[in-house]
Amino acid sequence: MRLLGISGSVREKSFNRGLLRAAVDVAPNDVTLSIYDISEIPVYNADFDGEKQPEVVRNFKRAILESDALLIATPEYNASFSGVLKNAIDWASRPLSSTPLMDKPAALMGASGGPSGTIRAQAALLQVLVSCGVRVMPKPGVVVRHAGTLCDDTGLLTDEETRARIRKQIEALAEFSSGLNGGSL
Ligand SMILES: Cc1cc2nc3c(=O)[nH]c(=O)nc-3n(C[C@H](O)[C@H](O)[C@H](O)COP(=O)(O)O)c2cc1C
Repeated sequence: MRLLGISGSVREKSFNRGLLRAAVDVAPNDVTLSIYDISEIPVYNADFDGEKQPEVVRNFKRAILESDALLIATPEYNASFSGVLKNAIDWASRPLSSTPLMDKPAALMGASGGPSGTIRAQAALLQVLVSCGVRVMPKPGVVVRHAGTLCDDTGLLTDEETRARIRKQIEALAEFSSGLNGGSL
């Protein structure tokens, strides 16, 4: 399975990128996870949508299309998810008739430095993704509180218990994704 990891924080030592870096480490052998850098995606402008979509946006949409599922790690900004992530989703959601987000399986995770651990950010992100046609896996989720105590000074998640939860989430996402492609009696 090809997973595309997207971090809603683009800072170098981001805890959320650190969750995805840990996911790369703990992913089962039959899963490849590439982390996509959304920092180069420009601010959404409808004047440059459709045929005029910038190359960097096309590349992002192609990466989504070619993946089997998304693993999205979001920070919490002012009780929601980050603007940089919303901006990337808005581009990817266009045009509605052919968005690569449609029916794409996804799992959500998030880390914050405080006690709320991105609960509100993930709830807001869920609402947006569902409206774009993304099939968000209901559980297990990964909510990382007080991330500073669980990550090293590069932002990498080092806490073994949390890394094990991420592995379980990836395994569940693989099962969830295959279940979406036709069930059986
Ligand atoms: C503009 C802004 C708003 C924030 N709002 C919240 C918040 O509502 N809840 C929370 O738990 N943390 C909040 N934080 C703290 C972030 O969760 C924390 O900086 C986190 O480390 C960001 O993720 P990152 O490490 O992946 O960059 C906020 C940070 C910023 C910059």
